[in-house]
Amino acid sequence: MIFEQIVDGGCQSYILGCEATRSAVIIDPSQHHLDHYMGLVTRQGLRVRYVIDTHTHADHFSASRELGRALHAPVVMHRLSPAPHADFRVVGGDILRIGDIRLRTLHTPGHTRDSLSFVTEDRVFTGDTLLIGGTGRTDLPTGDPEALYDSLFGVLLKLPSETLVFPAHDYKGRSHSTIGAEIAGNPRLQMSDRAAFVDMMQHLNLAAPTHLTEALRTNMSGGKTVEQLLANASAAISFISMADLAARVASGDVGMILLDVREKDLFLAGHVPGAIHLPRGQLELRVNKDLPDPTRRILVICEFGYISTLAAATLRELGFTQAIALDGGMKGWREAGLPLAVGSS
Ligand SMILES: [Fe+2]
Repeated sequence: MIFEQIVDGGCQSYILGCEATRSAVIIDPSQHHLDHYMGLVTRQGLRVRYVIDTHTHADHFSASRELGRALHAPVVMHRLSPAPHADFRVVGGDILRIGDIRLRTLHTPGHTRDSLSFVTEDRVFTGDTLLIGGTGRTDLPTGDPEALYDSLFGVLLKLPSETLVFPAHDYKGRSHSTIGAEIAGNPRLQMSDRAAFVDMMQHLNLAAPTHLTEALRTNMSGGKTVEQLLANASAAISFISMADLAARVASGDVGMILLDVREKDLFLAGHVPGAIHLPRGQLELRVNKDLPDPTRRILVICEFGYISTLAAATLRELGFTQAIALDGGMKGWREAGLPLAVGSS
């Protein structure tokens, strides 16, 4: 069996492959490692048959949709998952065959209603149902401590004690555990009375995960994160540096249209000399009138460098093939003591 564990902070994802046929599956991929998975798959000469999310993640950004598309592999989730991009839905008991590997599905709800675990040979992928020395929390959407009790004591802990446990998270750098070690030492599993377990889970008082709303929004809808949106816009345009623009301004001939897309009050308070004003909110409405020549080089400027990136990418989409953005924004320009013009340009 080919096995890769990819660690990203506290998140763990896995590539599992069949030696003989080179078929593979990716489990719980995260956005940060998109290129990494593609590289590992290529290096190992694998054909990915499935991309699996063990559940709807509330704490990290799943890459399953993009990876599934890029690798022409269906995204596997439980039948109850809200994700519209999950195009291969399973229920407990279903077996996925990946070459000679048989991956058996267990429905293990509790952390979420759609939580799955997967068993093959000597190991189990437990998602966030069973963690090393812990369990998934049950206080986020669709969490249910009663269901978690049943999934743990009625399903996962009944696996042979030597079964290796590979969870979706570990915050202490541990790679895996065993069912036996968890039964013996996991503090949450010492509460084997149902009512006591449920009471404990209901009184953990955990802080909400960072990025909770964005993770749920994107993982449930297949939509983009703000970071992805910006990364895509950045890749669609080129930039010039503040030093380059400063030198051009000093020379008296910038050789391009400087387009300041901030709100009016910010523009009036101080802008790059020679810049014209067209707020981002009116860009598409005024573009035909204000920017009649699509062949001109247009340098878009904003306060921090993010909105200008999005605006320049929009201009490129509209056919302004020379639209670029300033690498940085007016905040940095002011802090560097570079020249400002005030009032209307
Ligand atoms: Fe989770």
